[in-house]
This record gives sequence, structure tokens and C-alpha cells, in this order.
Amino acid sequence: MESGNEIIPIASDHGGYEMKTYLIENMTTMGYKMFDFGTNSETSVDYPDMIHPLAKTVNDGTYPLGIILCGSGNGAQITANKYPNVRAALCWTVEIAKLARQHNNANILALPGRFISNETALEMVKVFLSTGFEGGRHQHRVDKISKTL
Ligand code: RB5
Repeated sequence: MESGNEIIPIASDHGGYEMKTYLIENMTTMGYKMFDFGTNSETSVDYPDMIHPLAKTVNDGTYPLGIILCGSGNGAQITANKYPNVRAALCWTVEIAKLARQHNNANILALPGRFISNETALEMVKVFLSTGFEGGRHQHRVDKISKTL
């Protein structure tokens, strides 16, 4: 997905707020339109309150891809993955973010706001939004994810 008129939804708790603000500023400069689901300060909040509304929109197809953050990334990722059409990937390097799209067809990038730099996060977002799913054997594997025993 090239930057243009696409709307990219983004959400965080207080642990990801500072990084979310950095990403919104830089992505807006790059030409993306950002839909900010909050939070709006570093005041302590419960991550599901911001993550559920974003995950719902990716789940129902309103947005093809989204970005979520919390301190570790785990609470946000676990919440988003409650939705059947969501594949949220917790990533901490550019290469892992790329593989999440290529191999897992991840549609939400989960970032650990307290454990990576803002600059790395921005590079990860750029790669996540511009990399496609490879399909083939990976489609076969992704199809099996929902087939619980
Ligand atoms: C908040 O302190 C922290 O628990 C939260 O941001 C996240 O890391 C939870 O998984």
C-alpha cells in the first residue's frame, strides 16, 4: 500500500501513546490519513478500550490494515486477535514486520512502544504497509489457523 489517500487506523494505550503520536506526525507528513482511536494522553487507561474499536473495523473490512501499540505490544495484540478476521502480529524488527505480511498475511501491526525506538517503529510501519502476502504455501497455512481442535 503506497501512501496516498489511504486511511490507516491507529490505537494505543498510555504505554504506546508517545510512539503513536510520533507515527501519526510522520505518516501524515508522508501523505497517509490517520484515524486515531486514542488514547489521547499518557494517563493510565485499559488497552482493550482503544484496541477493540480498531480491531472491529479491520475485522469488518472498513480498513484493510491497522496499527496498534501498548507498552509491550502483547495486551494490544492479544485483544485484537479475539476477532476472527484479524491477524495481529507483534513485531519488533523491520524484518519481522515484513515477514508478518509476506508469510502470515497479518492485517494489524502490534508494536511494543516501550521496547523499540520511534525510528525503528516508523520503518516497520512503512514496510508493513508496502509489503504483500506471498500466498501459495503460506495461504494454506493461514487457512489452518482458525481450525482449532
Ligand atoms: C501498561 O502499563 C502496560 O501493561 C500495557 O501497555 C501493555 O504492556 C500490556 O500488555
